[in-house]
Amino acid sequence: MNLLIYKTLEELNQDLADYVIKIAEMSIEENDRFNFVLTGGSSPKALYHLLATEGQHRIDWDKVYFFFGDERNVPANDDNYNGLMAKKAILDPLGIKEDHIFYVDTTLAPEKAAIEYKKAIDKHFNGEDLIFDLILLGMGDDAHTASIFPHTTLVKDEEVNVASVYVEKLNTYRISFTAPLINKADNVAFLVFGENKAEALKHVIGDEQKDVATYPSQLIDPIDGKLTWFTDEAATKLLED
Ligand code: 6PG
Repeated sequence: MNLLIYKTLEELNQDLADYVIKIAEMSIEENDRFNFVLTGGSSPKALYHLLATEGQHRIDWDKVYFFFGDERNVPANDDNYNGLMAKKAILDPLGIKEDHIFYVDTTLAPEKAAIEYKKAIDKHFNGEDLIFDLILLGMGDDAHTASIFPHTTLVKDEEVNVASVYVEKLNTYRISFTAPLINKADNVAFLVFGENKAEALKHVIGDEQKDVATYPSQLIDPIDGKLTWFTDEAATKLLED
């Protein structure tokens, strides 16, 4: 696990954008495509803007396929829909073709939406192992990642899958990659910054004894891939040296 701690968000996002571009270049070089899983939430907006502006001419974006590590159970035109945030921040600005974007179909009931999303991923990988080139993740101040929230069924889900989950504290359903699907990726990058994440990060990274039910981000441990944390001084201030 590689822990990168930045003084400013500008440096963090610049380095993370370069990291994404580097993995994209290698993936396109190797497989003529880059399978890229986006995270929702607010943290990645500046990164997506950087990729869509400074990154615009650095790679062949026509060879990039975009997925979502999780989605809220809301209509696609709802401001809380991760796909809409990404559409505005990076997909439309880069002119990404619709058939290169895998949105979660939330017109379906959550369980069906998860089943259909997994089918779409399986079809895309066409029998190959479901190894994404890069999965971006955020982390909530409760140590959830994707929609793997504390004390929910997803914490115990050992399937390489996309699943629906009822999140009691939010009184809503979510659709999410499971931890085993995330852990198959070649590269996983957490984007976690701000003082409000410090307490959770102390446990997720610092605890010898794991408690994945309480701190689900501890589940993320790529089997063969590389895990990198892009953080700032505020989020890591409670970590012991
Ligand atoms: C979501 C995300 C979720 C997010 C964290 C952090 O759908 O909300 O996928 O896992 O990454 O909640 O969110 P912020 O970046 O807004 O702090």
